Amino acid sequence: MTELDEKAALSILEGYRNDPQQIISALLDIQEASGRSYVDRRWALAAARVTGVPAARVHEILTFYSMFSETPRGRHVAEVCLSGPCLVNGGEELLRRLSAALDVSEGETSADGLFTLEGGGCCGRCAGAPVVRIGDEAYTVASDADAAALVLSFRDGDPAGREALRCVRWGSCPKARTRRIRWTSRGMCPEEAIGPWKRPSTWTPPG
Ligand code: FES
Repeated sequence: MTELDEKAALSILEGYRNDPQQIISALLDIQEASGRSYVDRRWALAAARVTGVPAARVHEILTFYSMFSETPRGRHVAEVCLSGPCLVNGGEELLRRLSAALDVSEGETSADGLFTLEGGGCCGRCAGAPVVRIGDEAYTVASDADAAALVLSFRDGDPAGREALRCVRWGSCPKARTRRIRWTSRGMCPEEAIGPWKRPSTWTPPG
């Protein structure tokens, strides 16, 4: 996998020059472009410099939000939601299924470098619980065959192979509809703490 080079990293960051409010978006773009789902220290410092956010604050962000990593991971991160509704609806079983399909344990990266399997927090699809988030999408995996089909579709680069598993049922957080704020640490929306344990009036129960 090619590492993100300086020219590409600085080109991404240039779009966020002197815009400290967009530091999370800048770091997400860098992480996505890395090809290894992480933010290298060099680009974290560059992001601090370009946006005008103190380097210590950038480090805080990278270590606080579970969506970020400072060490290389797989090309994709399969993050199984283990927050309330997903947990009680079979989140741990889903984790086991994906663990078997990928032949890795939680926290490990598959031998081909394509996937890292992680447990994570709510991604706003509680109504489809349990779900696994991969990139900007969430998937419902109801059987071992589903898990195998999901992994195969990524290995083959065939989005159609996973379309039927895509979860389109938004859950508890109305703000989760905005791409840039929907992936949060342990289910807490960074703008406002809304989770299944503190339901807004628009919350729809699973099922
Ligand atoms: S609790 Fe799993 S997506 Fe919200």
